[in-house]
Amino acid sequence: MATKIVKSVFRSNLFLGNIAIITGGGTGIGKSIAKELSVLGCKVVIASRKPRVLEECARVLNSELCEELVFPFPCNIRKEDEVKNLMHYTVSKFGKLDFLINNGGGQFISPFSEINTKGWNAVVDTNLNGTYYCLREAYHAWMGKNGGSIVNIVVSNFNGMPGMSHSAAARAGIINLTQTLALEWAENGIRINAIAPGCIYSESAAANYQNYPNLFKDVVNLIPLKRTGTVEEVSALVCFLLSPAASFITGDILKIDGAQSLHRHSFYEPKDHTNSKPFTWQGVPFQPSKL
Ligand code: ADE
Repeated sequence: MATKIVKSVFRSNLFLGNIAIITGGGTGIGKSIAKELSVLGCKVVIASRKPRVLEECARVLNSELCEELVFPFPCNIRKEDEVKNLMHYTVSKFGKLDFLINNGGGQFISPFSEINTKGWNAVVDTNLNGTYYCLREAYHAWMGKNGGSIVNIVVSNFNGMPGMSHSAAARAGIINLTQTLALEWAENGIRINAIAPGCIYSESAAANYQNYPNLFKDVVNLIPLKRTGTVEEVSALVCFLLSPAASFITGDILKIDGAQSLHRHSFYEPKDHTNSKPFTWQGVPFQPSKL
């Protein structure tokens, strides 16, 4: 029989010869992205603050792959110098940097009125400034001259996020940065998109919210698809955006939340109160006009 001449952009070894950096790469969504990219042939540098977690992640993935494709590199994205080192390590070891996945981030649950300056700055520093350092250094180390594809991972929190104001403010900054850089860096051959996951279950996410043991069970009531998402579903979307299949997509923000944000994305309920009054004129309330 003749060999097929039809081709698909979706094929094995899709990312053979490509080099990626994933921040927050040793656990949860980051680990799953590392797995998906490396199964498709990509060499992946996973970065986070926890060397032992990174080493174990790389060991497990490389042994499953029967090949060394995953490389741990300790880096606190809050520190400019460490981010510079991450980029220089990658470009000098592999000769290039095709993909950057800004996945490192985090937050704690608290009403805005109880967040102090230290807590606020820590969350903004990791999420927004950490992403800024990674974008800037990836640009200078490689992508500015050679192009590349970037995915920023934020959170689906588009109508405000009671209990997570610091994170929501930082993530909104990243979304606007994504759009701005899609414009500024189009001429450099860089595509940059963001994805906004809703509630995605992973062991590391569950550990992070261990003070809220029913969170992942209760949230299902808010999700039209009636389940939480999986890390594999998120990594498939990241791979799509990095791939040539998305070569005309840049500056976009894709929600992956089972339609939760279209329905109701937080547990917040307005409390009963009488603290809101319509305005008056010379002490006299305006009456609704009679139709
Ligand atoms: N993931 C969460 N916080 C991080 C940090 N400060 N640096 C790298 N990865 C992270």
